[in-house]
Amino acid sequence: ALDGPALNLAELAADARGRLDPVHWDFFSGGAGEERTVRANEAAFARRYLVPRVLRGAARRDLRVSLFGSRISMPVLIAPTAFHRLAHPEGEVATARAATEAGTIMVVSMAATRPVEEIAAAGGPLWFQLYPQPDLDFTASVVRRAEAAGCSALVVTVDSPVFGRRERDLRHGFVDLPAGLSCENMRDATGRVRDIEMDAGLDWARIARLREITALPILLKGVLHPADAALAVSYGLDGLLVSNHGGRQLDGALATLDALPAVVEAVGGRLPVLLDGGVRRGADVLVALALGASAVLVGRPVLWGLAVGGAAGVRHVLDLLHADLDRTLTLAGVTGPADLRDDLVATVACG
Ligand code: FNR
Repeated sequence: ALDGPALNLAELAADARGRLDPVHWDFFSGGAGEERTVRANEAAFARRYLVPRVLRGAARRDLRVSLFGSRISMPVLIAPTAFHRLAHPEGEVATARAATEAGTIMVVSMAATRPVEEIAAAGGPLWFQLYPQPDLDFTASVVRRAEAAGCSALVVTVDSPVFGRRERDLRHGFVDLPAGLSCENMRDATGRVRDIEMDAGLDWARIARLREITALPILLKGVLHPADAALAVSYGLDGLLVSNHGGRQLDGALATLDALPAVVEAVGGRLPVLLDGGVRRGADVLVALALGASAVLVGRPVLWGLAVGGAAGVRHVLDLLHADLDRTLTLAGVTGPADLRDDLVATVACG
Protein backbone atom coordinates (compact mmCIF):
# COMPACT_ATOMS: atom_id res chain seq x y z
CA ALA A 1 0.00 0.00 0.00
CA LEU A 2 1.03 3.61 -0.61
CA ASP A 3 1.78 6.27 1.99
CA GLY A 4 -1.26 8.43 1.40
CA PRO A 5 -3.83 8.43 -1.37
CA ALA A 6 -2.78 7.70 -4.94
CA LEU A 7 -1.70 10.84 -6.80
CA ASN A 8 -2.72 9.37 -10.13
CA LEU A 9 -4.48 6.36 -11.59
CA ALA A 10 -1.26 4.43 -12.26
CA GLU A 11 -0.45 4.53 -8.54
CA LEU A 12 -3.99 3.47 -7.79
CA ALA A 13 -3.63 0.50 -10.16
CA ALA A 14 -0.49 -0.60 -8.34
CA ASP A 15 -2.29 -0.36 -5.01
CA ALA A 16 -5.26 -2.33 -6.34
CA ARG A 17 -2.99 -5.00 -7.73
CA GLY A 18 -1.54 -5.58 -4.26
CA ARG A 19 -5.01 -6.07 -2.79
CA LEU A 20 -6.81 -8.13 -5.44
CA ASP A 21 -6.70 -11.88 -5.93
CA PRO A 22 -4.27 -12.23 -8.88
CA VAL A 23 -6.96 -14.09 -10.84
CA HIS A 24 -9.33 -11.14 -10.45
CA TRP A 25 -6.59 -8.60 -11.16
CA ASP A 26 -5.96 -10.41 -14.44
CA PHE A 27 -9.69 -10.50 -15.23
CA PHE A 28 -9.95 -6.75 -14.69
CA SER A 29 -6.76 -5.66 -16.41
CA GLY A 30 -6.42 -8.18 -19.20
CA GLY A 31 -7.71 -8.23 -22.75
CA ALA A 32 -8.06 -10.44 -25.77
CA GLY A 33 -5.23 -12.19 -27.58
CA GLU A 34 -1.87 -10.47 -27.39
CA GLU A 35 -3.50 -7.42 -25.79
CA ARG A 36 -2.35 -5.23 -28.67
CA THR A 37 -5.54 -3.21 -28.49
CA VAL A 38 -5.34 -2.84 -24.71
CA ARG A 39 -1.95 -1.22 -25.17
CA ALA A 40 -2.97 0.72 -28.30
CA ASN A 41 -5.74 2.59 -26.49
CA GLU A 42 -3.31 4.19 -24.04
CA ALA A 43 -0.55 4.55 -26.66
CA ALA A 44 -2.89 6.57 -28.88
CA PHE A 45 -3.18 9.19 -26.15
CA ALA A 46 0.61 9.16 -25.69
CA ARG A 47 1.00 10.21 -29.36
CA ARG A 48 -1.09 13.35 -28.82
CA TYR A 49 0.42 16.56 -27.54
CA LEU A 50 -1.33 19.77 -26.63
CA VAL A 51 -0.79 23.10 -28.33
CA PRO A 52 -2.10 25.41 -25.61
CA ARG A 53 -3.53 28.86 -26.05
CA VAL A 54 -2.33 31.66 -23.76
CA LEU A 55 -3.75 34.89 -22.36
CA ARG A 56 -7.31 33.73 -22.77
CA GLY A 57 -8.52 34.78 -19.35
CA ALA A 58 -9.69 31.28 -18.37
CA ALA A 59 -10.11 32.15 -14.69
CA ARG A 60 -13.61 30.72 -14.62
CA ARG A 61 -14.11 27.26 -15.98
CA ASP A 62 -17.24 25.20 -16.28
CA LEU A 63 -16.68 21.48 -16.74
CA ARG A 64 -20.33 20.51 -16.79
CA VAL A 65 -22.02 18.91 -19.80
CA SER A 66 -25.56 17.74 -20.54
CA LEU A 67 -26.25 14.31 -21.99
CA PHE A 68 -29.74 12.95 -22.64
CA GLY A 69 -31.34 15.11 -20.01
CA SER A 70 -28.72 14.73 -17.29
CA ARG A 71 -26.55 17.69 -16.42
CA ILE A 72 -23.33 16.21 -15.05
CA SER A 73 -20.30 17.66 -13.28
CA MET A 74 -17.77 16.75 -15.96
CA PRO A 75 -17.55 15.00 -19.33
CA VAL A 76 -16.35 11.78 -17.65
CA LEU A 77 -18.73 8.88 -17.01
CA ILE A 78 -18.34 5.42 -15.53
CA ALA A 79 -18.15 2.74 -18.23
CA PRO A 80 -20.12 -0.48 -17.72
CA THR A 81 -17.89 -3.16 -16.23
CA ALA A 82 -18.87 -6.59 -14.94
CA PHE A 83 -18.62 -8.15 -11.50
CA HIS A 84 -17.94 -5.26 -9.10
CA ARG A 85 -18.34 -7.57 -6.12
CA LEU A 86 -15.03 -9.17 -7.08
CA ALA A 87 -13.45 -5.81 -6.20
CA HIS A 88 -15.50 -4.91 -3.13
CA PRO A 89 -18.29 -6.60 -1.11
CA GLU A 90 -20.72 -3.72 -1.77
CA GLY A 91 -20.09 -4.03 -5.49
CA GLU A 92 -21.99 -1.78 -7.88
CA VAL A 93 -23.89 -0.09 -5.04
CA ALA A 94 -20.61 1.46 -3.83
CA THR A 95 -19.74 2.54 -7.36
CA ALA A 96 -23.14 4.16 -7.77
CA ARG A 97 -22.82 6.07 -4.52
CA ALA A 98 -19.50 7.53 -5.67
CA ALA A 99 -20.93 8.48 -9.08
CA THR A 100 -23.92 10.16 -7.48
CA GLU A 101 -21.74 12.11 -5.05
CA ALA A 102 -19.41 13.18 -7.85
CA GLY A 103 -22.38 14.20 -9.99
CA THR A 104 -21.77 11.95 -12.95
CA ILE A 105 -23.44 9.06 -14.76
CA MET A 106 -22.74 5.41 -14.02
CA VAL A 107 -23.48 2.95 -16.79
CA VAL A 108 -24.66 -0.23 -15.07
CA SER A 109 -23.39 -3.42 -16.70
CA MET A 110 -25.83 -6.16 -17.58
CA ALA A 111 -23.27 -8.34 -15.77
CA ALA A 112 -23.61 -6.37 -12.52
CA THR A 113 -23.47 -8.37 -9.30
CA ARG A 114 -26.09 -6.20 -7.55
CA PRO A 115 -29.67 -5.70 -8.78
CA VAL A 116 -30.27 -2.52 -10.76
CA GLU A 117 -32.94 -1.45 -8.26
CA GLU A 118 -30.39 -1.42 -5.40
CA ILE A 119 -27.86 0.40 -7.58
CA ALA A 120 -30.49 3.00 -8.48
CA ALA A 121 -31.22 3.62 -4.80
CA ALA A 122 -27.98 5.66 -4.67
CA GLY A 123 -29.88 8.32 -6.61
CA GLY A 124 -28.37 8.14 -10.10
CA PRO A 125 -28.15 9.30 -12.82
CA LEU A 126 -27.82 5.80 -14.31
CA TRP A 127 -27.74 4.34 -17.77
CA PHE A 128 -28.12 0.60 -18.40
CA GLN A 129 -25.83 -1.48 -20.63
CA LEU A 130 -27.51 -4.26 -22.55
CA TYR A 131 -26.24 -7.28 -24.42
CA PRO A 132 -29.35 -8.05 -26.52
CA GLN A 133 -30.19 -11.68 -25.84
CA PRO A 134 -31.41 -14.14 -28.47
CA ASP A 135 -34.55 -14.49 -26.31
CA LEU A 136 -36.32 -11.30 -27.37
CA ASP A 137 -38.95 -11.46 -24.63
CA PHE A 138 -36.30 -11.80 -21.96
CA THR A 139 -34.39 -8.88 -23.52
CA ALA A 140 -37.56 -6.79 -23.39
CA SER A 141 -38.10 -7.74 -19.75
CA VAL A 142 -34.59 -6.55 -18.85
CA VAL A 143 -35.26 -3.25 -20.64
CA ARG A 144 -38.54 -2.85 -18.70
CA ARG A 145 -36.69 -3.52 -15.47
CA ALA A 146 -34.01 -0.90 -16.25
CA GLU A 147 -36.72 1.62 -17.15
CA ALA A 148 -38.64 0.93 -13.97
CA ALA A 149 -35.46 1.37 -11.89
CA GLY A 150 -35.06 4.83 -13.40
CA CYS A 151 -32.24 4.29 -15.91
CA SER A 152 -32.36 7.17 -18.37
CA ALA A 153 -30.59 5.64 -21.38
CA LEU A 154 -29.73 2.24 -22.84
CA VAL A 155 -26.18 1.47 -23.93
CA VAL A 156 -26.32 -1.45 -26.33
CA THR A 157 -23.02 -3.26 -26.67
CA VAL A 158 -22.46 -4.37 -30.26
CA ASP A 159 -18.80 -5.42 -30.25
CA SER A 160 -19.43 -8.82 -28.70
CA PRO A 161 -20.94 -11.30 -31.19
CA VAL A 162 -18.79 -13.86 -29.35
CA PHE A 163 -16.60 -13.55 -26.28
CA GLY A 164 -13.10 -12.32 -26.93
CA ARG A 165 -10.41 -14.89 -26.18
CA ARG A 166 -8.91 -13.72 -22.91
CA GLU A 167 -5.80 -15.76 -22.46
CA ARG A 168 -5.09 -14.66 -18.89
CA ASP A 169 -8.51 -15.94 -17.83
CA LEU A 170 -8.03 -19.18 -19.76
CA ARG A 171 -4.68 -19.71 -18.05
CA HIS A 172 -6.29 -19.25 -14.64
CA GLY A 173 -9.38 -21.25 -15.52
CA PHE A 174 -11.45 -18.19 -14.60
CA VAL A 175 -14.71 -18.80 -16.40
CA ASP A 176 -17.42 -17.78 -13.99
CA LEU A 177 -18.25 -15.90 -10.82
CA PRO A 178 -17.36 -17.60 -7.53
CA ALA A 179 -20.18 -19.25 -5.57
CA GLY A 180 -22.46 -16.75 -3.88
CA LEU A 181 -22.13 -14.08 -6.57
CA SER A 182 -24.33 -13.84 -9.63
CA CYS A 183 -25.46 -11.52 -12.40
CA GLU A 184 -28.46 -10.16 -10.54
CA ASN A 185 -30.01 -8.50 -13.57
CA MET A 186 -30.19 -11.80 -15.43
CA ARG A 187 -32.86 -13.23 -13.12
CA ASP A 188 -35.97 -14.21 -15.02
CA ALA A 189 -39.57 -14.29 -13.81
CA THR A 190 -38.95 -17.60 -12.03
CA GLY A 191 -35.94 -16.19 -10.11
CA ARG A 192 -33.42 -18.26 -12.06
CA VAL A 193 -30.24 -16.44 -13.10
CA ARG A 194 -29.69 -16.86 -16.82
CA ASP A 195 -26.27 -16.90 -18.45
CA ILE A 196 -25.48 -13.87 -20.59
CA GLU A 197 -25.42 -15.12 -24.15
CA MET A 198 -23.28 -13.47 -26.75
CA ASP A 199 -25.26 -13.46 -29.97
CA ALA A 200 -23.44 -13.61 -33.29
CA GLY A 201 -26.80 -13.24 -35.01
CA LEU A 202 -27.35 -9.73 -33.69
CA ASP A 203 -28.02 -7.35 -36.58
CA TRP A 204 -29.50 -3.96 -37.45
CA ALA A 205 -33.00 -5.40 -37.65
CA ARG A 206 -32.75 -6.40 -33.99
CA ILE A 207 -31.54 -2.92 -33.10
CA ALA A 208 -34.51 -1.48 -34.98
CA ARG A 209 -36.78 -3.73 -32.91
CA LEU A 210 -35.20 -2.52 -29.73
CA ARG A 211 -35.78 1.03 -30.93
CA GLU A 212 -39.49 0.17 -31.17
CA ILE A 213 -39.88 -1.30 -27.70
CA THR A 214 -38.42 1.54 -25.63
CA ALA A 215 -38.63 5.30 -25.53
CA LEU A 216 -35.26 5.52 -23.78
CA PRO A 217 -32.39 7.06 -25.73
CA ILE A 218 -30.26 4.26 -27.23
CA LEU A 219 -26.50 4.51 -27.63
CA LEU A 220 -24.53 1.87 -29.53
CA LYS A 221 -21.34 0.87 -27.72
CA GLY A 222 -18.48 -0.56 -29.69
CA VAL A 223 -18.61 1.29 -33.00
CA LEU A 224 -15.24 1.98 -34.67
CA HIS A 225 -16.09 2.11 -38.40
CA PRO A 226 -17.47 5.34 -39.88
CA ALA A 227 -19.87 3.36 -42.09
CA ASP A 228 -21.48 1.87 -38.98
CA ALA A 229 -21.67 5.34 -37.47
CA ALA A 230 -23.60 6.52 -40.53
CA LEU A 231 -25.92 3.50 -40.27
CA ALA A 232 -26.57 4.27 -36.61
CA VAL A 233 -27.75 7.72 -37.64
CA SER A 234 -30.05 6.26 -40.29
CA TYR A 235 -31.55 3.79 -37.78
CA GLY A 236 -32.61 6.65 -35.55
CA LEU A 237 -30.27 5.90 -32.69
CA ASP A 238 -29.44 8.58 -30.19
CA GLY A 239 -25.73 8.31 -29.53
CA LEU A 240 -22.54 6.40 -30.26
CA LEU A 241 -19.82 5.14 -28.00
CA VAL A 242 -16.54 4.63 -29.82
CA SER A 243 -15.14 1.65 -27.95
CA ASN A 244 -13.22 -1.57 -28.46
CA HIS A 245 -14.33 -2.94 -25.07
CA GLY A 246 -11.02 -1.91 -23.55
CA GLY A 247 -9.23 -4.34 -25.88
CA ARG A 248 -11.14 -7.31 -24.51
CA GLN A 249 -12.96 -8.36 -27.67
CA LEU A 250 -11.24 -8.00 -31.08
CA ASP A 251 -7.51 -7.95 -30.51
CA GLY A 252 -5.90 -5.80 -33.17
CA ALA A 253 -8.89 -3.46 -33.32
CA LEU A 254 -7.97 0.17 -33.83
CA ALA A 255 -7.34 2.32 -30.76
CA THR A 256 -10.48 4.26 -29.97
CA LEU A 257 -8.81 7.66 -30.14
CA ASP A 258 -7.50 6.81 -33.62
CA ALA A 259 -11.00 5.73 -34.70
CA LEU A 260 -12.73 8.79 -33.28
CA PRO A 261 -12.14 11.47 -35.96
CA ALA A 262 -13.64 9.43 -38.83
CA VAL A 263 -16.67 8.50 -36.72
CA VAL A 264 -17.18 12.13 -35.73
CA GLU A 265 -16.97 13.15 -39.37
CA ALA A 266 -19.46 10.48 -40.49
CA VAL A 267 -21.93 11.56 -37.81
CA GLY A 268 -21.59 15.20 -38.75
CA GLY A 269 -22.97 16.51 -35.47
CA ARG A 270 -26.27 14.58 -35.75
CA LEU A 271 -25.60 12.53 -32.58
CA PRO A 272 -23.29 12.82 -29.60
CA VAL A 273 -20.22 10.63 -29.92
CA LEU A 274 -18.64 9.33 -26.72
CA LEU A 275 -15.38 7.40 -26.32
CA ASP A 276 -13.86 4.95 -23.89
CA GLY A 277 -10.55 3.09 -23.69
CA GLY A 278 -7.31 4.22 -22.10
CA VAL A 279 -8.53 7.48 -20.55
CA ARG A 280 -6.31 7.99 -17.49
CA ARG A 281 -5.53 11.72 -17.23
CA GLY A 282 -7.23 15.07 -17.62
CA ALA A 283 -5.19 15.65 -20.77
CA ASP A 284 -6.70 12.47 -22.27
CA VAL A 285 -10.18 13.84 -21.67
CA LEU A 286 -9.19 17.15 -23.23
CA VAL A 287 -7.74 15.45 -26.32
CA ALA A 288 -10.79 13.21 -26.86
CA LEU A 289 -13.15 16.17 -26.58
CA ALA A 290 -10.97 18.34 -28.83
CA LEU A 291 -11.14 15.58 -31.47
CA GLY A 292 -14.93 15.57 -31.30
CA ALA A 293 -16.10 13.43 -28.39
CA SER A 294 -18.93 14.82 -26.26
CA ALA A 295 -17.71 12.88 -23.22
CA VAL A 296 -15.53 9.93 -22.25
CA LEU A 297 -15.97 6.94 -19.97
CA VAL A 298 -13.49 5.16 -17.71
CA GLY A 299 -13.57 1.42 -17.07
CA ARG A 300 -10.64 -0.18 -15.27
CA PRO A 301 -9.69 2.81 -13.06
CA VAL A 302 -13.11 2.58 -11.40
CA LEU A 303 -12.45 -1.07 -10.53
CA TRP A 304 -9.07 -0.14 -9.06
CA GLY A 305 -10.68 2.54 -6.92
CA LEU A 306 -13.35 0.10 -5.80
CA ALA A 307 -10.73 -2.50 -4.84
CA VAL A 308 -8.68 0.03 -2.88
CA GLY A 309 -11.43 1.84 -1.03
CA GLY A 310 -14.99 0.96 -2.04
CA ALA A 311 -17.14 4.02 -2.68
CA ALA A 312 -14.43 6.35 -1.36
CA GLY A 313 -11.92 4.78 -3.72
CA VAL A 314 -14.20 5.32 -6.73
CA ARG A 315 -14.83 8.86 -5.55
CA HIS A 316 -11.07 9.36 -5.47
CA VAL A 317 -10.84 8.27 -9.13
CA LEU A 318 -13.55 10.71 -10.17
CA ASP A 319 -12.11 13.55 -8.07
CA LEU A 320 -8.62 13.00 -9.50
CA LEU A 321 -9.99 13.15 -13.05
CA HIS A 322 -12.11 16.22 -12.32
CA ALA A 323 -9.21 18.13 -10.73
CA ASP A 324 -6.76 17.06 -13.42
CA LEU A 325 -9.14 18.03 -16.22
CA ASP A 326 -9.78 21.42 -14.62
CA ARG A 327 -6.07 22.15 -14.25
CA THR A 328 -5.31 20.92 -17.76
CA LEU A 329 -8.02 23.09 -19.29
CA THR A 330 -6.67 26.10 -17.42
CA LEU A 331 -3.11 25.43 -18.57
CA ALA A 332 -4.33 25.02 -22.14
CA GLY A 333 -6.28 28.29 -22.00
CA VAL A 334 -9.68 26.64 -22.29
CA THR A 335 -12.77 27.54 -20.25
CA GLY A 336 -14.76 24.33 -20.71
CA PRO A 337 -15.79 21.45 -22.94
CA ALA A 338 -17.57 23.69 -25.44
CA ASP A 339 -14.36 25.68 -25.94
CA LEU A 340 -12.33 22.74 -27.34
CA ARG A 341 -11.16 22.55 -30.96
CA ASP A 342 -8.87 20.12 -32.74
CA ASP A 343 -6.21 22.81 -33.30
CA LEU A 344 -5.25 22.28 -29.63
CA VAL A 345 -4.01 18.77 -30.46
CA ALA A 346 -0.94 17.71 -32.42
CA THR A 347 -0.19 14.10 -33.30
CA VAL A 348 3.36 12.77 -33.40
CA ALA A 349 4.47 9.47 -34.92
CA CYS A 350 5.37 7.83 -31.63
CA GLY A 351 5.09 8.75 -27.96
C1 FNR B 1 -15.58 -4.27 -19.36
N1 FNR B 1 -16.34 -3.71 -20.38
C2 FNR B 1 -17.68 -4.04 -20.50
N2 FNR B 1 -18.44 -3.47 -21.46
C3 FNR B 1 -19.75 -3.78 -21.56
O1 FNR B 1 -20.42 -3.24 -22.44
N3 FNR B 1 -20.34 -4.65 -20.68
C4 FNR B 1 -19.64 -5.25 -19.68
O2 FNR B 1 -20.19 -6.02 -18.90
C5 FNR B 1 -18.25 -4.97 -19.60
N4 FNR B 1 -17.49 -5.58 -18.65
C6 FNR B 1 -16.18 -5.23 -18.49
C7 FNR B 1 -15.43 -5.81 -17.47
C8 FNR B 1 -14.13 -5.39 -17.25
C9 FNR B 1 -13.35 -6.00 -16.13
C10 FNR B 1 -13.54 -4.41 -18.09
C11 FNR B 1 -12.13 -3.92 -17.86
C12 FNR B 1 -14.27 -3.87 -19.13
C13 FNR B 1 -15.76 -2.68 -21.27
C14 FNR B 1 -15.88 -1.29 -20.68
O3 FNR B 1 -17.21 -0.84 -20.73
C15 FNR B 1 -15.05 -0.24 -21.45
O4 FNR B 1 -15.33 -0.32 -22.82
C16 FNR B 1 -13.55 -0.36 -21.23
O5 FNR B 1 -13.24 -0.83 -19.94
C17 FNR B 1 -12.91 1.01 -21.42
O6 FNR B 1 -11.55 0.93 -21.37
P1 FNR B 1 -10.67 1.27 -20.04
O7 FNR B 1 -11.13 2.58 -19.47
O8 FNR B 1 -10.82 0.11 -19.15
O9 FNR B 1 -9.29 1.38 -20.66
